[in-house]
Amino acid sequence: MPNLDWKGKHLSPPVPATVILDSILYPKGRGYPKARPDGRVILGDNLNVMAALLPEYEGHINLIYADPPFFTNRKFSARVGRGEDSRKPSRWKLAEGYHDSWDDLDSYLQFLYERLSLMHRLLAPNGTLYLHLDWHADAYARLILDEIFGAENFINEIIWTYHGPSPIRTAFNRKHDTILMYGKSGDYVFNVDDIREPYNPNTVATFKASPKAGFGKVPDLERGKVPEDWWYFPVVARLHNERTGYPTQKPEALLERIILASSNKDDLVADFFCGSGTTALVAAKHGRRFITCDESARAIHTARLRLAETKSVCAFELDSTARPEAASKSKKIIVHAAGGYVRLTTSLDVDFWEVDPAWDGKIFRSAAQAQRHVRSGEIPMELKMKTGGRVCIRLVTVEGKQFQLHV
Ligand SMILES: C[S@@+](CC[C@H](N)C(=O)[O-])C[C@H]1O[C@@H](n2cnc3c(N)ncnc32)[C@H](O)[C@@H]1O
Repeated sequence: MPNLDWKGKHLSPPVPATVILDSILYPKGRGYPKARPDGRVILGDNLNVMAALLPEYEGHINLIYADPPFFTNRKFSARVGRGEDSRKPSRWKLAEGYHDSWDDLDSYLQFLYERLSLMHRLLAPNGTLYLHLDWHADAYARLILDEIFGAENFINEIIWTYHGPSPIRTAFNRKHDTILMYGKSGDYVFNVDDIREPYNPNTVATFKASPKAGFGKVPDLERGKVPEDWWYFPVVARLHNERTGYPTQKPEALLERIILASSNKDDLVADFFCGSGTTALVAAKHGRRFITCDESARAIHTARLRLAETKSVCAFELDSTARPEAASKSKKIIVHAAGGYVRLTTSLDVDFWEVDPAWDGKIFRSAAQAQRHVRSGEIPMELKMKTGGRVCIRLVTVEGKQFQLHV
């Protein structure tokens, strides 16, 4: 087998981070305070996070979707705040999203190699990896995955096509990504009947008119067809209703096909480059447990907002490899808790706030949350709830600043 080599290629023994339980979030109070979390959202570098997960999860994750930086050598900004006019980009507020900047190709390949090796270890014997890249590095990644998984475990090279504006005038518009799909073994999960799609009406009409049209192959017109390995889903563009403002957010429909095909109910689905949290969100909607991670606080905040709004989520953990910095005093914030409600008064531009009505001084249990409305930009400043003991509130501003106060 040909092997890909680069300067400094090596696998060091994984160095685990200390993962600290920071809070448990019960969306709209569901399951508070006792429900066992069925998901984990972890802030930290995925290399050390995955190393820390090995003792508990090695060989136990059923599906991993990985959407790392693509080696574009660009910086991607996040659009923050809500309620602004989507058609007027000049009025958007921007914040740091994530960097896809590298010293050279060697360092990028080493970055992928170490992480993909850990993902391979974490996968269950019948698990599947989907690695999402584009023309910048997909050819190299194919060889790296052949080495780690074995070329015989390659399943598909999926092409995701989309439309969109492009400044390119010297070549065809580059409008597809490549998703490499590998099984940990030949015995991988593939739920073919969960991802069938209707045949094109012309095909149905042709076969109804002449059963011999398929040269001996008769399609199952009732059940529908197995999708090809090229997929069309619109990108999450400016006016898309899934839009969070986090850069390079992937459409839920894309993750839905992957999760339905390659996992079962209650399975464990992971995404260690989670960005806005699309994988965890779709996994939860389909009754899967999830582990998701990102090194950017903005990404984790975005994922938390989306999960907090997801009806099928009962409770999930927020973990971190370092104590998140939260200012505990601000003259600009007044909390009033009495008479069955908690009220917040502040001049800050609040994006999200949550309440632990009986704080034990250690783990924050979020029993109620408020977030800005995507279109109107409004956020409730009063939350109804019974309080008993110390009330603690956490608040995140549009700029990403965090506060924690108790009364
Ligand atoms: C292409 S984006 C993922 C977008 C995501 N699929 C979505 O739908 O929003 C890549 C993400 O990887 C994260 N990332 C890059 N290096 C990382 C690392 N070493 N550990 C954890 N996350 C990392 C970035 O912060 C960024 O959010």
